[in-house]
Amino acid sequence: MTHKRPEDLRSARWFAPDDLRSMGHRSRAMQMGLSEEDWEGKPVIAVINTWSDLSPCHHHLRDRAEQVKRGILQAGGMPAELPVHSFSEQFLKPTSMLYRNMGAMEVEETLRSHPVDGAVLLGGCDKSTPALIMGAISMGIPFIFMPAGAMLRGNYAGQKLGSGTDVWKYWDERRAGTIGKEEWMGVQGGIARSYGTCMTMGTASTMMSIAEGWGLTLPGASSIPAPDAGHKRMAAACGRRIVDMVWEDLTPDRIITAASTRNATAVAMATGCSTNAIIHLIAMARRAGVEWGLDDLDRIGREVPVLANLRPSGKEYLMEDFFYAGGLPALMKEMSGKLDLSVTTVTGRTLGECIEGAVNYNDDVIRPMSNPLYHEGSLAVLRGNLAPDGAVIKPAAMDSRFQVHSGPAIVADNYADLKKIINDENYPMTPDHVLVLRNAGPQGGPGMPEWGMIPMPKALLKQGHRDMMRLSDARMSGTSYGACILHVAPEAFIGGPLALIKTGDIIEMNIPNRTLNVKLSAEELEERRAAWTPPEARYERGYGYMFTKHVEQADKGCDFDFLKTEFGGPVPEPEI
Ligand code: FES
Ligand code: MG
Repeated sequence: MTHKRPEDLRSARWFAPDDLRSMGHRSRAMQMGLSEEDWEGKPVIAVINTWSDLSPCHHHLRDRAEQVKRGILQAGGMPAELPVHSFSEQFLKPTSMLYRNMGAMEVEETLRSHPVDGAVLLGGCDKSTPALIMGAISMGIPFIFMPAGAMLRGNYAGQKLGSGTDVWKYWDERRAGTIGKEEWMGVQGGIARSYGTCMTMGTASTMMSIAEGWGLTLPGASSIPAPDAGHKRMAAACGRRIVDMVWEDLTPDRIITAASTRNATAVAMATGCSTNAIIHLIAMARRAGVEWGLDDLDRIGREVPVLANLRPSGKEYLMEDFFYAGGLPALMKEMSGKLDLSVTTVTGRTLGECIEGAVNYNDDVIRPMSNPLYHEGSLAVLRGNLAPDGAVIKPAAMDSRFQVHSGPAIVADNYADLKKIINDENYPMTPDHVLVLRNAGPQGGPGMPEWGMIPMPKALLKQGHRDMMRLSDARMSGTSYGACILHVAPEAFIGGPLALIKTGDIIEMNIPNRTLNVKLSAEELEERRAAWTPPEARYERGYGYMFTKHVEQADKGCDFDFLKTEFGGPVPEPEI
Protein backbone atom coordinates (compact mmCIF):
# COMPACT_ATOMS: atom_id res chain seq x y z
CA MET A 1 0.00 0.00 0.00
CA THR A 2 1.26 3.48 -0.84
CA HIS A 3 2.16 5.56 2.11
CA LYS A 4 2.38 9.26 1.47
CA ARG A 5 5.15 11.26 3.05
CA PRO A 6 4.23 14.57 4.74
CA GLU A 7 6.05 16.50 2.02
CA ASP A 8 3.81 14.83 -0.59
CA LEU A 9 0.62 16.21 0.93
CA ARG A 10 -1.29 18.54 -1.31
CA SER A 11 -1.72 20.97 1.58
CA ALA A 12 2.05 21.11 2.05
CA ARG A 13 2.21 23.15 -1.14
CA TRP A 14 0.35 25.86 0.75
CA PHE A 15 1.92 25.51 4.17
CA ALA A 16 5.49 24.19 3.82
CA PRO A 17 7.62 26.30 1.46
CA ASP A 18 9.89 28.97 2.92
CA ASP A 19 8.59 31.70 0.62
CA LEU A 20 6.42 34.79 0.62
CA ARG A 21 3.10 33.13 -0.30
CA SER A 22 3.39 30.33 2.22
CA MET A 23 4.33 32.76 4.92
CA GLY A 24 1.03 34.47 4.10
CA HIS A 25 -0.89 31.18 4.45
CA ARG A 26 0.79 30.40 7.76
CA SER A 27 0.30 33.86 9.20
CA ARG A 28 -3.39 33.74 8.30
CA ALA A 29 -3.75 30.31 9.88
CA MET A 30 -2.18 31.82 12.99
CA GLN A 31 -4.78 34.59 12.77
CA MET A 32 -7.36 31.88 13.52
CA GLY A 33 -5.46 30.80 16.61
CA LEU A 34 -3.68 27.89 14.97
CA SER A 35 0.02 27.20 15.28
CA GLU A 36 2.59 25.04 13.50
CA GLU A 37 1.58 22.04 15.61
CA ASP A 38 -1.83 22.20 13.97
CA TRP A 39 -0.68 21.87 10.38
CA GLU A 40 2.94 20.76 10.12
CA GLY A 41 3.12 17.34 8.54
CA LYS A 42 -0.62 16.84 8.98
CA PRO A 43 -3.26 16.11 6.36
CA VAL A 44 -5.80 18.91 6.14
CA ILE A 45 -9.27 17.41 5.99
CA ALA A 46 -12.20 19.34 4.58
CA VAL A 47 -15.43 18.78 6.47
CA ILE A 48 -17.87 19.66 3.71
CA ASN A 49 -21.05 20.70 5.50
CA THR A 50 -24.52 21.09 4.01
CA TRP A 51 -26.04 22.44 7.24
CA SER A 52 -28.38 25.42 7.02
CA ASP A 53 -31.24 26.94 8.99
CA LEU A 54 -33.61 26.00 6.18
CA SER A 55 -32.50 22.39 5.86
CA PRO A 56 -34.43 20.39 8.47
CA CYS A 57 -32.90 17.10 7.34
CA HIS A 58 -29.41 18.47 7.99
CA HIS A 59 -30.16 20.38 11.15
CA HIS A 60 -27.83 18.21 13.23
CA LEU A 61 -24.87 18.55 10.88
CA ARG A 62 -23.34 21.48 12.75
CA ASP A 63 -22.95 19.20 15.73
CA ARG A 64 -21.87 16.25 13.58
CA ALA A 65 -19.14 18.38 12.02
CA GLU A 66 -17.74 18.80 15.54
CA GLN A 67 -17.72 15.01 15.99
CA VAL A 68 -15.98 14.54 12.65
CA LYS A 69 -13.37 17.11 13.68
CA ARG A 70 -12.84 15.25 16.96
CA GLY A 71 -12.00 12.13 14.96
CA ILE A 72 -9.69 14.02 12.60
CA LEU A 73 -7.75 15.47 15.53
CA GLN A 74 -7.50 12.07 17.23
CA ALA A 75 -5.92 10.63 14.10
CA GLY A 76 -3.43 13.46 13.65
CA GLY A 77 -5.12 15.53 10.96
CA MET A 78 -6.14 19.16 10.77
CA PRO A 79 -9.89 19.68 10.31
CA ALA A 80 -11.27 22.53 8.21
CA GLU A 81 -15.04 22.88 8.00
CA LEU A 82 -16.15 24.29 4.66
CA PRO A 83 -19.85 25.07 4.17
CA VAL A 84 -21.60 24.43 0.87
CA HIS A 85 -25.17 24.71 -0.45
CA SER A 86 -27.67 22.85 1.76
CA PHE A 87 -29.97 21.22 -0.87
CA SER A 88 -33.11 21.59 1.21
CA GLU A 89 -35.59 19.35 -0.55
CA GLN A 90 -38.52 20.81 1.34
CA PHE A 91 -37.87 24.49 0.77
CA LEU A 92 -36.08 24.95 -2.56
CA LYS A 93 -38.14 26.14 -5.49
CA PRO A 94 -38.68 25.42 -8.32
CA THR A 95 -36.94 22.16 -7.30
CA SER A 96 -33.70 21.16 -5.59
CA MET A 97 -32.85 19.18 -8.74
CA LEU A 98 -32.15 22.46 -10.50
CA TYR A 99 -29.27 22.95 -8.07
CA ARG A 100 -27.72 19.47 -7.89
CA ASN A 101 -25.16 20.24 -10.58
CA MET A 102 -24.45 23.69 -9.18
CA GLY A 103 -23.75 22.00 -5.85
CA ALA A 104 -21.51 19.43 -7.48
CA MET A 105 -19.51 22.22 -9.09
CA GLU A 106 -19.32 24.03 -5.78
CA VAL A 107 -18.00 20.94 -4.00
CA GLU A 108 -15.42 20.22 -6.69
CA GLU A 109 -14.15 23.78 -6.80
CA THR A 110 -14.25 24.24 -3.02
CA LEU A 111 -12.00 21.21 -2.63
CA ARG A 112 -9.72 22.20 -5.48
CA SER A 113 -9.19 25.79 -4.42
CA HIS A 114 -8.44 25.11 -0.75
CA PRO A 115 -5.38 23.49 0.84
CA VAL A 116 -7.04 20.15 1.57
CA ASP A 117 -5.87 16.55 1.26
CA GLY A 118 -9.07 14.67 1.90
CA ALA A 119 -12.72 15.29 2.69
CA VAL A 120 -15.63 14.06 4.76
CA LEU A 121 -18.89 14.90 3.03
CA LEU A 122 -21.86 15.58 5.32
CA GLY A 123 -25.24 15.22 3.68
CA GLY A 124 -28.20 12.99 2.96
CA CYS A 125 -31.29 14.98 1.95
CA ASP A 126 -32.10 13.86 -1.59
CA LYS A 127 -29.85 15.82 -3.99
CA SER A 128 -27.10 16.44 -1.45
CA THR A 129 -25.72 12.90 -1.71
CA PRO A 130 -25.19 12.88 -5.49
CA ALA A 131 -24.06 16.52 -5.54
CA LEU A 132 -21.42 15.90 -2.87
CA ILE A 133 -20.23 12.65 -4.39
CA MET A 134 -20.19 13.91 -7.99
CA GLY A 135 -18.11 16.92 -7.03
CA ALA A 136 -15.71 14.92 -4.88
CA ILE A 137 -15.25 12.28 -7.58
CA SER A 138 -14.35 14.95 -10.12
CA MET A 139 -11.84 16.47 -7.71
CA GLY A 140 -10.34 13.04 -7.09
CA ILE A 141 -8.93 13.36 -3.55
CA PRO A 142 -9.75 10.71 -0.92
CA PHE A 143 -13.18 11.20 0.65
CA ILE A 144 -15.73 9.52 2.92
CA PHE A 145 -19.44 10.19 2.66
CA MET A 146 -21.04 10.65 6.08
CA PRO A 147 -24.80 10.02 5.74
CA ALA A 148 -27.03 12.41 7.68
CA GLY A 149 -29.24 9.46 8.67
CA ALA A 150 -33.00 9.20 8.80
CA MET A 151 -35.27 10.92 11.30
CA LEU A 152 -37.39 9.03 13.85
CA ARG A 153 -40.59 7.28 12.79
CA GLY A 154 -43.57 9.58 12.44
CA ASN A 155 -46.45 9.21 14.86
CA TYR A 156 -50.04 10.43 14.93
CA ALA A 157 -52.83 9.06 17.10
CA GLY A 158 -50.98 5.80 17.57
CA GLN A 159 -50.37 5.41 13.82
CA LYS A 160 -46.85 5.12 12.43
CA LEU A 161 -46.37 7.81 9.80
CA GLY A 162 -43.90 7.63 6.91
CA SER A 163 -42.34 10.77 5.38
CA GLY A 164 -43.97 11.76 2.13
CA THR A 165 -45.77 8.45 1.66
CA ASP A 166 -48.36 9.17 4.35
CA VAL A 167 -48.69 12.81 3.37
CA TRP A 168 -49.86 11.74 -0.10
CA LYS A 169 -52.13 9.13 1.41
CA TYR A 170 -53.79 11.43 3.92
CA TRP A 171 -54.07 14.21 1.32
CA ASP A 172 -55.98 11.88 -1.00
CA GLU A 173 -58.28 11.04 1.93
CA ARG A 174 -58.72 14.72 2.76
CA ARG A 175 -59.62 15.47 -0.85
CA ALA A 176 -61.98 12.52 -0.88
CA GLY A 177 -63.59 14.01 2.25
CA THR A 178 -62.92 11.00 4.52
CA ILE A 179 -60.76 12.99 7.00
CA GLY A 180 -61.12 16.56 8.22
CA LYS A 181 -58.84 19.47 9.13
CA GLU A 182 -58.15 18.24 12.66
CA GLU A 183 -56.68 14.92 11.52
CA TRP A 184 -54.76 16.70 8.79
CA MET A 185 -53.20 19.02 11.40
CA GLY A 186 -52.37 16.00 13.54
CA VAL A 187 -50.46 14.48 10.66
CA GLN A 188 -48.68 17.80 10.10
CA GLY A 189 -47.42 17.84 13.68
CA GLY A 190 -46.47 14.17 13.87
CA ILE A 191 -44.86 13.34 10.61
CA ALA A 192 -41.42 14.90 11.20
CA ARG A 193 -40.40 14.36 14.82
CA SER A 194 -36.63 14.87 14.74
CA TYR A 195 -33.80 16.09 12.57
CA GLY A 196 -32.64 13.70 9.88
CA THR A 197 -33.80 12.74 6.43
CA CYS A 198 -37.13 11.24 5.36
CA MET A 199 -37.46 7.86 7.09
CA THR A 200 -39.20 6.00 4.32
CA MET A 201 -37.02 4.31 1.69
CA GLY A 202 -37.35 7.48 -0.39
CA THR A 203 -34.65 9.19 -2.37
CA ALA A 204 -32.59 10.18 0.66
CA SER A 205 -32.39 6.70 2.21
CA THR A 206 -31.92 5.11 -1.20
CA MET A 207 -29.04 7.44 -2.05
CA MET A 208 -27.35 6.96 1.32
CA SER A 209 -27.70 3.18 0.88
CA ILE A 210 -26.26 3.42 -2.62
CA ALA A 211 -23.27 5.33 -1.24
CA GLU A 212 -22.70 2.52 1.28
CA GLY A 213 -23.22 -0.15 -1.37
CA TRP A 214 -20.57 1.59 -3.45
CA GLY A 215 -18.11 1.44 -0.55
CA LEU A 216 -18.13 5.19 0.07
CA THR A 217 -19.31 5.13 3.71
CA LEU A 218 -18.20 3.31 6.82
CA PRO A 219 -20.00 -0.04 7.20
CA GLY A 220 -23.54 0.38 8.47
CA ALA A 221 -23.36 4.18 8.38
CA SER A 222 -26.31 4.75 6.05
CA SER A 223 -28.89 3.06 8.31
CA ILE A 224 -28.13 4.75 11.64
CA PRO A 225 -31.01 7.06 12.63
CA ALA A 226 -29.84 10.67 12.85
CA PRO A 227 -30.70 11.09 16.57
CA ASP A 228 -29.00 7.81 17.64
CA ALA A 229 -25.83 8.27 19.71
CA GLY A 230 -24.22 5.79 17.35
CA HIS A 231 -24.56 8.43 14.66
CA LYS A 232 -22.19 10.71 16.54
CA ARG A 233 -19.75 7.87 17.03
CA MET A 234 -19.92 7.09 13.33
CA ALA A 235 -19.17 10.76 12.56
CA ALA A 236 -16.03 10.67 14.72
CA ALA A 237 -15.00 7.39 13.10
CA CYS A 238 -15.27 9.05 9.67
CA GLY A 239 -12.86 11.71 10.92
CA ARG A 240 -10.36 9.14 12.13
CA ARG A 241 -10.54 7.03 9.00
CA ILE A 242 -10.18 9.83 6.43
CA VAL A 243 -6.77 10.79 7.86
CA ASP A 244 -5.50 7.28 7.20
CA MET A 245 -7.11 7.28 3.77
CA VAL A 246 -5.03 10.31 2.85
CA TRP A 247 -1.80 8.59 3.95
CA GLU A 248 -2.88 5.49 2.02
CA ASP A 249 -3.79 7.65 -0.99
CA LEU A 250 -7.08 5.77 -1.27
CA THR A 251 -8.55 7.91 -4.03
CA PRO A 252 -12.13 7.52 -5.36
CA ASP A 253 -11.01 5.89 -8.62
CA ARG A 254 -9.84 2.90 -6.57
CA ILE A 255 -13.29 2.55 -5.00
CA ILE A 256 -15.69 3.52 -7.79
CA THR A 257 -15.16 0.91 -10.48
CA ALA A 258 -17.49 -0.91 -12.85
CA ALA A 259 -17.76 -3.73 -10.29
CA SER A 260 -18.62 -1.47 -7.35
CA THR A 261 -21.10 0.42 -9.55
CA ARG A 262 -22.87 -2.88 -10.24
CA ASN A 263 -22.95 -3.46 -6.49
CA ALA A 264 -24.38 0.00 -5.83
CA THR A 265 -27.07 -0.57 -8.46
CA ALA A 266 -27.96 -4.00 -7.07
CA VAL A 267 -28.24 -2.51 -3.58
CA ALA A 268 -30.51 0.21 -4.96
CA MET A 269 -32.80 -2.44 -6.46
CA ALA A 270 -32.90 -4.50 -3.27
CA THR A 271 -33.90 -1.46 -1.24
CA GLY A 272 -36.91 -0.91 -3.53
CA CYS A 273 -35.24 2.25 -4.59
CA SER A 274 -36.53 5.67 -5.45
CA THR A 275 -36.87 6.38 -9.15
CA ASN A 276 -34.68 9.43 -8.62
CA ALA A 277 -31.80 7.09 -7.85
CA ILE A 278 -31.65 6.12 -11.50
CA ILE A 279 -30.74 9.62 -12.58
CA HIS A 280 -28.22 10.11 -9.79
CA LEU A 281 -26.62 6.68 -10.19
CA ILE A 282 -26.01 7.31 -13.86
CA ALA A 283 -24.64 10.78 -13.20
CA MET A 284 -22.32 9.64 -10.39
CA ALA A 285 -21.02 6.63 -12.31
CA ARG A 286 -20.30 8.73 -15.37
CA ARG A 287 -18.34 11.19 -13.25
CA ALA A 288 -16.13 8.28 -12.28
CA GLY A 289 -15.69 7.32 -15.93
CA VAL A 290 -17.97 4.27 -15.65
CA GLU A 291 -20.31 4.12 -18.65
CA TRP A 292 -23.66 3.44 -17.01
CA GLY A 293 -27.14 3.73 -18.47
CA LEU A 294 -30.78 2.73 -18.24
CA ASP A 295 -30.19 -0.71 -19.74
CA ASP A 296 -27.69 -1.57 -17.00
CA LEU A 297 -30.26 -0.57 -14.42
CA ASP A 298 -33.03 -2.56 -16.05
CA ARG A 299 -30.81 -5.65 -16.39
CA ILE A 300 -29.79 -5.56 -12.74
CA GLY A 301 -33.38 -4.75 -11.81
CA ARG A 302 -34.52 -8.01 -13.38
CA GLU A 303 -31.96 -10.01 -11.41
CA VAL A 304 -32.26 -8.47 -7.97
CA PRO A 305 -35.51 -8.67 -6.00
CA VAL A 306 -36.73 -6.09 -3.49
CA LEU A 307 -35.65 -7.27 -0.03
CA ALA A 308 -36.17 -4.17 2.13
CA ASN A 309 -39.77 -4.26 3.33
CA LEU A 310 -39.96 -0.50 3.80
CA ARG A 311 -42.50 2.06 2.72
CA PRO A 312 -43.35 3.06 0.05
CA SER A 313 -42.77 -0.39 -1.52
CA GLY A 314 -43.67 -2.19 1.71
CA LYS A 315 -46.74 -1.48 3.79
CA GLU A 316 -45.42 -1.30 7.28
CA TYR A 317 -41.81 -0.57 8.15
CA LEU A 318 -39.57 2.49 8.16
CA MET A 319 -35.82 3.21 8.36
CA GLU A 320 -35.75 2.93 12.13
CA ASP A 321 -37.07 -0.63 11.83
CA PHE A 322 -34.48 -1.30 9.13
CA PHE A 323 -31.68 -0.17 11.47
CA TYR A 324 -32.92 -2.41 14.30
CA ALA A 325 -33.13 -5.32 11.86
CA GLY A 326 -29.43 -5.01 11.04
CA GLY A 327 -29.48 -2.23 8.44
CA LEU A 328 -27.76 -2.22 5.12
CA PRO A 329 -24.92 -4.62 6.05
CA ALA A 330 -27.56 -7.27 6.87
CA LEU A 331 -29.37 -6.58 3.62
CA MET A 332 -26.11 -6.86 1.65
CA LYS A 333 -25.33 -10.10 3.43
CA GLU A 334 -28.70 -11.53 2.34
CA MET A 335 -27.99 -10.58 -1.28
CA SER A 336 -24.25 -11.27 -1.21
CA GLY A 337 -24.62 -13.71 -4.11
CA LYS A 338 -25.50 -10.70 -6.28
CA LEU A 339 -22.52 -8.62 -5.14
CA ASP A 340 -18.83 -8.55 -5.99
CA LEU A 341 -17.41 -8.85 -2.50
CA SER A 342 -13.81 -8.30 -3.59
CA VAL A 343 -14.15 -4.55 -4.22
CA THR A 344 -12.35 -2.03 -2.03
CA THR A 345 -14.25 0.31 0.30
CA VAL A 346 -13.24 3.49 2.14
CA THR A 347 -12.25 1.28 5.05
CA GLY A 348 -9.41 -0.13 2.95
CA ARG A 349 -11.03 -3.52 3.43
CA THR A 350 -13.12 -5.38 0.90
CA LEU A 351 -16.90 -5.19 0.87
CA GLY A 352 -16.95 -8.87 1.84
CA GLU A 353 -14.89 -8.15 4.95
CA CYS A 354 -17.17 -5.23 5.83
CA ILE A 355 -20.35 -7.32 5.88
CA GLU A 356 -18.87 -10.55 7.21
CA GLY A 357 -20.30 -10.21 10.71
CA ALA A 358 -23.64 -8.71 9.69
CA VAL A 359 -26.76 -10.33 11.16
CA ASN A 360 -30.38 -10.05 10.02
CA TYR A 361 -32.42 -9.68 13.22
CA ASN A 362 -35.82 -9.46 11.55
CA ASP A 363 -36.44 -11.33 8.34
CA ASP A 364 -39.79 -9.66 7.81
CA VAL A 365 -38.10 -6.24 7.56
CA ILE A 366 -35.06 -7.51 5.66
CA ARG A 367 -36.33 -10.34 3.54
CA PRO A 368 -34.11 -13.25 2.52
CA MET A 369 -33.70 -13.95 -1.21
CA SER A 370 -36.10 -16.86 -0.79
CA ASN A 371 -38.94 -14.59 0.36
CA PRO A 372 -38.60 -11.22 -1.38
CA LEU A 373 -41.08 -8.38 -1.08
CA TYR A 374 -41.18 -8.16 -4.85
CA HIS A 375 -39.73 -10.68 -7.26
CA GLU A 376 -37.81 -8.21 -9.40
CA GLY A 377 -36.00 -4.98 -8.55
CA SER A 378 -38.28 -2.08 -8.04
CA LEU A 379 -37.63 -0.31 -11.32
CA ALA A 380 -38.46 -1.03 -14.92
CA VAL A 381 -37.19 0.87 -17.95
CA LEU A 382 -39.72 1.27 -20.76
CA ARG A 383 -39.07 2.22 -24.38
CA GLY A 384 -41.16 2.76 -27.48
CA ASN A 385 -42.35 5.45 -29.84
CA LEU A 386 -43.38 7.60 -26.91
CA ALA A 387 -40.02 7.31 -25.14
CA PRO A 388 -37.25 6.46 -27.63
CA ASP A 389 -34.58 7.21 -24.99
CA GLY A 390 -36.44 5.51 -22.19
CA ALA A 391 -38.86 6.11 -19.34
CA VAL A 392 -39.07 4.49 -15.91
CA ILE A 393 -41.74 3.08 -13.64
CA LYS A 394 -41.74 1.51 -10.19
CA PRO A 395 -43.96 -1.57 -10.53
CA ALA A 396 -43.32 -2.63 -6.93
CA ALA A 397 -45.23 0.41 -5.67
CA MET A 398 -48.32 0.36 -7.87
CA ASP A 399 -51.59 -1.51 -8.38
CA SER A 400 -50.61 -4.67 -10.29
CA ARG A 401 -53.55 -4.32 -12.69
CA PHE A 402 -51.48 -1.77 -14.63
CA GLN A 403 -48.75 -4.28 -15.59
CA VAL A 404 -50.30 -4.36 -19.05
CA HIS A 405 -52.54 -1.40 -19.75
CA SER A 406 -53.89 0.74 -22.54
CA GLY A 407 -56.17 3.72 -22.34
CA PRO A 408 -56.97 7.12 -23.79
CA ALA A 409 -54.76 10.06 -22.84
CA ILE A 410 -55.86 13.20 -21.04
CA VAL A 411 -53.08 15.68 -21.75
CA ALA A 412 -52.04 18.67 -19.62
CA ASP A 413 -49.42 21.03 -21.05
CA ASN A 414 -48.35 22.37 -17.67
CA TYR A 415 -49.08 22.09 -13.97
CA ALA A 416 -51.78 24.80 -14.00
CA ASP A 417 -53.75 22.89 -16.65
CA LEU A 418 -53.24 19.68 -14.74
CA LYS A 419 -54.64 21.19 -11.53
CA LYS A 420 -57.85 22.13 -13.31
CA ILE A 421 -58.29 18.56 -14.47
CA ILE A 422 -57.54 16.87 -11.16
CA ASN A 423 -59.67 19.26 -9.12
CA ASP A 424 -62.74 18.94 -11.34
CA GLU A 425 -65.08 16.44 -9.66
CA ASN A 426 -67.06 16.08 -12.85
CA TYR A 427 -64.21 15.72 -15.34
CA PRO A 428 -65.23 12.95 -17.72
CA MET A 429 -62.78 10.11 -17.05
CA THR A 430 -62.59 6.44 -16.21
CA PRO A 431 -59.92 4.54 -14.25
CA ASP A 432 -58.57 3.37 -17.61
CA HIS A 433 -57.64 6.88 -18.72
CA VAL A 434 -53.96 7.85 -18.79
CA LEU A 435 -53.28 11.25 -17.26
CA VAL A 436 -50.37 12.97 -19.02
CA LEU A 437 -48.31 15.93 -17.79
CA ARG A 438 -45.67 17.32 -20.14
CA ASN A 439 -43.13 20.17 -20.19
CA ALA A 440 -41.96 19.09 -16.74
CA GLY A 441 -38.55 17.64 -17.74
CA PRO A 442 -35.01 18.93 -17.17
CA GLN A 443 -35.54 21.96 -19.41
CA GLY A 444 -39.32 22.20 -19.28
CA GLY A 445 -39.84 22.09 -15.48
CA PRO A 446 -37.29 23.59 -15.32
CA GLY A 447 -35.05 21.25 -13.35
CA MET A 448 -37.35 18.25 -13.67
CA PRO A 449 -39.52 18.85 -10.60
CA GLU A 450 -41.15 16.03 -8.62
CA TRP A 451 -44.54 16.47 -10.26
CA GLY A 452 -44.67 12.96 -11.67
CA MET A 453 -46.82 11.47 -8.93
CA ILE A 454 -49.77 13.36 -10.31
CA PRO A 455 -52.40 13.55 -7.55
CA MET A 456 -55.38 11.30 -8.14
CA PRO A 457 -58.17 13.28 -9.85
CA LYS A 458 -61.18 14.10 -7.66
CA ALA A 459 -63.44 12.62 -10.33
CA LEU A 460 -61.90 9.17 -9.68
CA LEU A 461 -61.33 9.57 -5.95
CA LYS A 462 -65.03 10.07 -5.36
CA GLN A 463 -65.69 6.81 -7.21
CA GLY A 464 -63.33 5.10 -4.77
CA HIS A 465 -60.30 4.69 -7.05
CA ARG A 466 -56.81 5.20 -5.59
CA ASP A 467 -54.55 4.48 -8.57
CA MET A 468 -54.51 5.20 -12.29
CA MET A 469 -51.86 5.27 -15.00
CA ARG A 470 -50.05 8.59 -15.09
CA LEU A 471 -47.31 9.67 -17.46
CA SER A 472 -44.84 12.57 -17.50
CA ASP A 473 -41.32 13.75 -18.25
CA ALA A 474 -41.02 14.81 -14.59
CA ARG A 475 -39.53 12.96 -11.62
CA MET A 476 -41.46 11.88 -8.57
CA SER A 477 -40.57 11.88 -4.92
CA GLY A 478 -38.92 8.67 -3.78
CA THR A 479 -41.61 8.39 -1.12
CA SER A 480 -44.35 8.23 -3.76
CA TYR A 481 -46.28 5.32 -5.16
CA GLY A 482 -48.74 4.59 -7.95
CA ALA A 483 -48.70 3.65 -11.63
CA CYS A 484 -46.61 6.66 -12.63
CA ILE A 485 -44.41 6.53 -15.70
CA LEU A 486 -41.64 9.08 -15.30
CA HIS A 487 -38.52 10.58 -16.91
CA VAL A 488 -39.85 10.22 -20.46
CA ALA A 489 -36.89 11.03 -22.72
CA PRO A 490 -36.48 13.05 -24.79
CA GLU A 491 -38.70 15.48 -22.85
CA ALA A 492 -41.61 17.36 -24.44
CA PHE A 493 -40.00 20.79 -24.07
CA ILE A 494 -37.28 19.92 -26.60
CA GLY A 495 -39.71 18.21 -28.97
CA GLY A 496 -39.74 14.63 -27.73
CA PRO A 497 -42.73 12.56 -28.95
CA LEU A 498 -44.51 13.38 -25.69
CA ALA A 499 -44.94 16.90 -27.12
CA LEU A 500 -46.97 15.52 -30.01
CA ILE A 501 -49.73 13.50 -28.36
CA LYS A 502 -53.30 14.74 -27.95
CA THR A 503 -56.15 14.03 -25.56
CA GLY A 504 -57.86 10.85 -26.78
CA ASP A 505 -54.73 9.19 -28.25
CA ILE A 506 -54.34 5.64 -26.99
CA ILE A 507 -51.31 5.00 -24.76
CA GLU A 508 -50.10 1.42 -24.35
CA MET A 509 -47.83 0.20 -21.58
CA ASN A 510 -46.53 -3.34 -21.16
CA ILE A 511 -44.22 -3.73 -18.17
CA PRO A 512 -43.22 -7.39 -18.74
CA ASN A 513 -42.21 -6.42 -22.30
CA ARG A 514 -40.82 -3.07 -21.19
CA THR A 515 -42.73 -1.08 -23.82
CA LEU A 516 -44.44 2.30 -23.89
CA ASN A 517 -46.15 3.43 -27.08
CA VAL A 518 -48.77 5.78 -28.39
CA LYS A 519 -51.00 4.17 -30.98
CA LEU A 520 -50.06 6.49 -33.82
CA SER A 521 -48.31 5.75 -37.10
CA ALA A 522 -44.84 7.12 -37.80
CA GLU A 523 -46.41 9.28 -40.52
CA GLU A 524 -48.96 10.78 -38.14
CA LEU A 525 -46.22 11.56 -35.62
CA GLU A 526 -44.13 13.18 -38.36
CA GLU A 527 -47.04 15.35 -39.48
CA ARG A 528 -47.63 16.51 -35.94
CA ARG A 529 -43.92 17.19 -35.49
CA ALA A 530 -43.91 19.46 -38.56
CA ALA A 531 -46.70 21.49 -36.97
CA TRP A 532 -45.00 21.70 -33.52
CA THR A 533 -43.43 24.96 -32.38
CA PRO A 534 -40.86 24.95 -29.55
CA PRO A 535 -41.90 26.76 -26.37
CA GLU A 536 -40.19 29.98 -25.30
CA ALA A 537 -36.92 29.73 -23.40
CA ARG A 538 -37.36 29.60 -19.62
CA TYR A 539 -34.36 31.76 -18.71
CA GLU A 540 -32.55 34.61 -20.39
CA ARG A 541 -29.82 35.11 -17.82
CA GLY A 542 -28.19 33.67 -14.71
CA TYR A 543 -27.71 30.13 -13.50
CA GLY A 544 -30.95 28.96 -15.13
CA TYR A 545 -29.60 30.10 -18.49
CA MET A 546 -26.45 28.06 -18.03
CA PHE A 547 -28.52 25.13 -16.79
CA THR A 548 -30.75 25.00 -19.86
CA LYS A 549 -27.78 25.38 -22.20
CA HIS A 550 -25.88 22.46 -20.70
CA VAL A 551 -28.18 20.01 -18.90
CA GLU A 552 -28.45 16.55 -20.43
CA GLN A 553 -31.59 14.44 -20.60
CA ALA A 554 -32.76 12.12 -17.83
CA ASP A 555 -31.40 8.95 -19.43
CA LYS A 556 -27.91 10.47 -19.22
CA GLY A 557 -28.25 11.53 -15.60
CA CYS A 558 -29.05 15.24 -16.09
CA ASP A 559 -25.43 16.26 -15.58
CA PHE A 560 -24.00 19.26 -17.41
CA ASP A 561 -22.28 18.23 -20.63
CA PHE A 562 -19.08 20.09 -19.69
CA LEU A 563 -18.78 18.35 -16.32
CA LYS A 564 -18.48 14.89 -17.83
CA THR A 565 -15.15 13.24 -17.15
CA GLU A 566 -14.29 12.92 -20.81
CA PHE A 567 -15.14 16.55 -21.60
CA GLY A 568 -11.85 18.31 -22.41
CA GLY A 569 -8.57 17.74 -20.61
CA PRO A 570 -8.18 17.46 -16.84
CA VAL A 571 -8.51 20.65 -14.77
CA PRO A 572 -5.02 21.77 -13.69
CA GLU A 573 -4.12 22.04 -10.01
CA PRO A 574 -4.05 25.68 -8.93
CA GLU A 575 -0.63 27.33 -9.18
CA ILE A 576 0.73 28.66 -5.94
FE1 FES B 1 -34.83 15.88 3.14
FE2 FES B 1 -36.81 14.06 2.42
S1 FES B 1 -36.90 16.21 2.60
S2 FES B 1 -34.74 13.76 2.90
MG1 MG C 1 -37.82 13.37 -1.70
